[in-house]
Amino acid sequence: MTTSTGLPASFHLVFLSEGADLPVGAEVAADDFTGKAESSLVLYPADGPKRLVLLGLGASPDVETLRKQAGVAARLAAGKKATTVSVQWPDLDLADAEVAEAIAEGLVLGGYRFDRYRTTQEEPPAIIEALVWVGAPDGTVEASEQGRILGEATSFARDLVNTSPGDQSATDLAMAAKRSADAHGYEAQVWSMGEIIQEGMGGLLAVNRGSEEPPTFTRLEWKPADAVNEQPIVLVGKGIVFDTGGLSLKPSSGMEKMKGDMGGAAAVIGGIEAVARLKLPVWVIALVPSTDNRPGKNAYVPGEVITMHSGATVEVLNTDAEGRMILADALSFAKRFEPELVIDFATLTGAQVIALGPLAAAIMTNEDDGAEARTQRVVDAGQRSGDRVWPLPMFAGYKKLLESDVADLKNVGGRAAGTITAGKFLEHFTDYPWVHVDIAGPSFANATEGYATKGGTGFGVRLIARMIQDRALKK
Ligand code: BES
Ligand code: ZN
Ligand code: ZN
Repeated sequence: MTTSTGLPASFHLVFLSEGADLPVGAEVAADDFTGKAESSLVLYPADGPKRLVLLGLGASPDVETLRKQAGVAARLAAGKKATTVSVQWPDLDLADAEVAEAIAEGLVLGGYRFDRYRTTQEEPPAIIEALVWVGAPDGTVEASEQGRILGEATSFARDLVNTSPGDQSATDLAMAAKRSADAHGYEAQVWSMGEIIQEGMGGLLAVNRGSEEPPTFTRLEWKPADAVNEQPIVLVGKGIVFDTGGLSLKPSSGMEKMKGDMGGAAAVIGGIEAVARLKLPVWVIALVPSTDNRPGKNAYVPGEVITMHSGATVEVLNTDAEGRMILADALSFAKRFEPELVIDFATLTGAQVIALGPLAAAIMTNEDDGAEARTQRVVDAGQRSGDRVWPLPMFAGYKKLLESDVADLKNVGGRAAGTITAGKFLEHFTDYPWVHVDIAGPSFANATEGYATKGGTGFGVRLIARMIQDRALKK
C-alpha cells in the first residue's frame, strides 16, 4: 500500500463522530446516518467522488474505534473492487499522528485475506494498493506509514498461524523467520537437533520425542548501533506447530485450532520484524523453541521425569502441558544474555480462554519490587496498541500446587487457577525481570469483525512494537 496526499478518489472515506455535520453531497442521508459507533453507509453523490463512505465513530472516538471502522471500510472497498482509497482528514480530539497511524493500520488489517490454498477465486481479491489523504496535516504520510508497517507485520504473523500444519514443520517455521530476518535486516540463527542436544534442552527434546520431525531453536536479533539499552530485551515465543496433546490426546472437536499453537512464536517473529522495519533504537532478541506435540512410539509419557535445560527436574503428569516444557528451556537459556527484561508469548492454557475470552491476554510477572510498575507499563502499552492485556495474581501459594512427590516440580497443577499455575511453572526458570503473556484466547478469532479477521489474529505484534517504542522513549 502506497501512501500520499491528494484529492478524493472514487472510494472516499469520511469518518464522523456522533452529531458531526455530514459532508457536502451526503446531506440526503441525514435520516439514515447519525455517526453512531459501528455504523456505515455507502453513498453515490451526484457530484464529488463516485462513492462516499460514511463511517460512524460514536460520541467520543478513540484510536481503537478508528482502527475498527477502518477495518470495516477496507472490506467495503474490497467488495466494490476499489484498490485506491482516499480518506478525508477527520477533525477529532486525538493526536494527529495517532489518527493517521490507526486508520492506516486498520485498513491493512481489516483488508487482510489468506488465499494461499484457494484454487478457485469466487471474488477476486481487491487489496488496497494506494491510500490518499485529503486535507491532512503535515506528518500524516509518515505516521500512516508506521500504521501500515504494524499492519503488515501483524498480517505476516496471521499468515504463519493460518498456514496448514502439513506445510509448517518446526524447520519451516524457523525458515520463515530467517526469510523475514534476511528481508528486513536483522540476524537469525537456527539450531536443529544436534545443537539442542548439546545445549541440554531436555524439555524441548521430551516434547519432540513423539514427532517424526526435528525440533528447532531459533534466535533472532535486532541490535542497532544507536540502541538505548545495554542489556537486551528478550522475547520468547511458544512454537508448537501442532498440539495434538501427545499421549494425553486432545478430543477431536476443535483440535484443528491447535495449528495456532505457534501463535506466540508468530507474535515474537512478527514483533521483531516490526521493530526492525521501524528501525527502533532498542536491542531486542527473540527466542523460538519449536516442535509439534504428537503421540508416537517414542513419545514422552505421563510419569516420566525430565531433566530440563536449567538442571531442574519435572515430573510430567500430562503430555498436553507441553508449552511450558519448551518455554522453560528457552527461559533458562535467556539468562546468558543478562536481559533487562524477558517477555514470553504463548497460547498456553485453555483456562485463559475461559477467564478472558478473545478480548484480552492474561499477563503475569515475577514478584519483585518492580512488579507493579512493570505490569502497569504492559497494560498501558496493550491499551494503546489494541492488543489488550490484563494481570493475574502470582501469590506464592499457587506454587504449592506444582509440588511433586518425585521431582522438583510437576508440569500440571490441576484445574484450579490453570493459567496462574502455568505462569508459576515458568517463573521457576527465570531469575530476571519477566512478563508472561498467555494469548490462548486472543490469538485466534472465530469471526471477522472490525479489523480482526477470522483465524489467526497476529495478537502480540503490535503490543511488542508499542512496548519497544516506549522503551526507546524511556517511558
Ligand atoms: N495449547 C494448549 C492451550 C490452548 C487451549 C491454547 C485452547 C489455545 C486454545 C496447551 O498446550 C494445553 O493443552 N494446555 C492444557 C494444560 C493442562 C493439561 C494443564 C489445557 O489448558 O488444558
Ligand atoms: Zn497442549
Ligand atoms: Zn499447546
